[in-house]
Amino acid sequence: MNATSSMGIATVRPCFRLLLGGSGKAAGALSKYPFLFSKCSRIRPMASSAGVRRRSVVPARAVAGARSMGTSAESAVGREKAFDRIYKEGLAGKPIVIDRVEPEIHQQPGPPPAAEKEEQEELAPPTKETEEEKEAWRLLRKSVVNYCGSPVGTVAADDPMTGGQMLNYDQVFIRDFVPSALAFLLKGETEIVKNFLLYTLQLQSWEKTVDCYSPGQGLMPASFKVRTIPSSDENEAYEVLDPDFGESAIGRVAPVDSGLWWIILLRAYGKISGDYALQERVDVQTGIRLILNLCLTDGFDMFPTLLVTDGSCMIDRRMGIHGHPLEIQSLFYSALRCSREMITSNEGSKNLIVAINNRLSALSFHIREYYWVDMKKINEIYRYKTEEYSSDAANKFNIYPEQIPSWLVNWFPDRGGYLIGNVQPAHMDFRFFSLGNLWAIASSLTTPWQAEGILNLIDDKWDDLVGNMPLKICYPAFEFDEWRIITGSDPKNTPWSYHNGGSWPTLLWQFTLACIKMGRPELARKAVAVAEKRLSKDKWPEYYDTRTGRFIGKQSRLFQTWTIAGYLTSKLLLEKPELASILTCEEDLELLEGCSCSLKKSARTKCSRPSSKSQVLI
Ligand code: GLC
Repeated sequence: MNATSSMGIATVRPCFRLLLGGSGKAAGALSKYPFLFSKCSRIRPMASSAGVRRRSVVPARAVAGARSMGTSAESAVGREKAFDRIYKEGLAGKPIVIDRVEPEIHQQPGPPPAAEKEEQEELAPPTKETEEEKEAWRLLRKSVVNYCGSPVGTVAADDPMTGGQMLNYDQVFIRDFVPSALAFLLKGETEIVKNFLLYTLQLQSWEKTVDCYSPGQGLMPASFKVRTIPSSDENEAYEVLDPDFGESAIGRVAPVDSGLWWIILLRAYGKISGDYALQERVDVQTGIRLILNLCLTDGFDMFPTLLVTDGSCMIDRRMGIHGHPLEIQSLFYSALRCSREMITSNEGSKNLIVAINNRLSALSFHIREYYWVDMKKINEIYRYKTEEYSSDAANKFNIYPEQIPSWLVNWFPDRGGYLIGNVQPAHMDFRFFSLGNLWAIASSLTTPWQAEGILNLIDDKWDDLVGNMPLKICYPAFEFDEWRIITGSDPKNTPWSYHNGGSWPTLLWQFTLACIKMGRPELARKAVAVAEKRLSKDKWPEYYDTRTGRFIGKQSRLFQTWTIAGYLTSKLLLEKPELASILTCEEDLELLEGCSCSLKKSARTKCSRPSSKSQVLI
């Protein structure tokens, strides 16, 4: 594979299967491909008396590459030395990254911006922490990962009981770090989040392959690990950041949600710290665009929803969520809303902003109209005619009413409703997925009326969705043949365990956020009280099993960081509900009024929006 492409590395590289099997091999890789690793040297602990700590090293070839790249790169490097990626406009108006320069991220954090300072003062802890909170803070701080002496993230779990079976739980997961980041931000500690945002940005589009096939430029890793690599000088070792884009992950799935979470966190960081300069940086703007380019690329799809493979989000194993799963759509919508606020408006970004608005408008219509179910809608589906060939069919996706599962008929309460898990041709996945529904509320992907309905449903179905531990990842579980066929007989995803109807305490913070947004903090307090009874006693498990979440999960890690951080974030949000706005978006009526497809104007095509019995503006 020719590697001159995205990184501008002027070398023809052989197919590079990841060489980091062990530290010896890694050292080999480092000397052979020095440009592949962001490295900093560090003195081995035993030799710390040896003295001076070295500055982070810029791989020499990378800098030389930048200098030889021609005028635009040269001038850009000259103008702004701190940018880690310098880019120029490509032929199609898309940015092409042509090189990286080590960012000045962590050496001297410098004084916080005025707004940040004020915010920090304002955020000084006002209330007395409970014993559980104190323990949670101690554990959260213990989970912090340092790179070149600076905090850059938190490990997924720090479970002493796993006996060498850490798998990748010793890595910093992008999605898992979000609640950690929020707990730190809400506490007024911004440095770790800033470092995380900038270092993960450096990892974006790292050229990793699965059997010589590279994922698209702009992909953010699922996780990364700080590896220590011995140097030829035995008193020294190098630290490198080693990302995993799914090429080592179980099932080899690409994490579609990582980039979306990164954008959401970037906005939250700016809003709470006042450090808007970070999102304005050229490299950060490029990072946002690269993620969006990946998401907005035209494909064969007929829907505005994002088409993904099974397991491309929090549920990262086969669970029958391939296609257009709600979780991805909610995060996608939220990331588009956040990006629209952050993208610097100029000639170069005009088209992108138009594309974002068009997609937001189509996406919210689609989800509000076709994913929403309540008693009335289910009754409509129950009476659907099928095989309708026309552009104004009532049953657009040709859903056979027999698909309505028997559990739903008996389970559905009279009040409330929810967004179903997936909509595809001739297929509706009627399972309730918590994250997608909660995040749809937070981002205003639903109407306010629908958001209210979702919270009513959770309230009415408390025993099923909260029970002994908030919150069910999805309801109900696949059992028997469905489990065998859809999960592929996955022994980790047995009924009412793990992703298949298990209860995940980390979802508590998202529930709290949605409740605060809808003015119902008492509902969140009720859930926090349920969690608080057990989390510390049970050693902060990753997930719980059984229909009502009574048992600690069969293969659950203990001291799972996002369980701990989710709890802290919930507490902090309830203490300062006004800060929930760093994560939420308000209803944008303009988006709903504009029928972005301009189909109305076209004689050849038809827009079903005006004729549809719409939930859109309720
Ligand atoms: C599991 C979860 C995933 C999480 C990871 C690390 O794989 O399914 O969502 O990011 O563990 O905690």
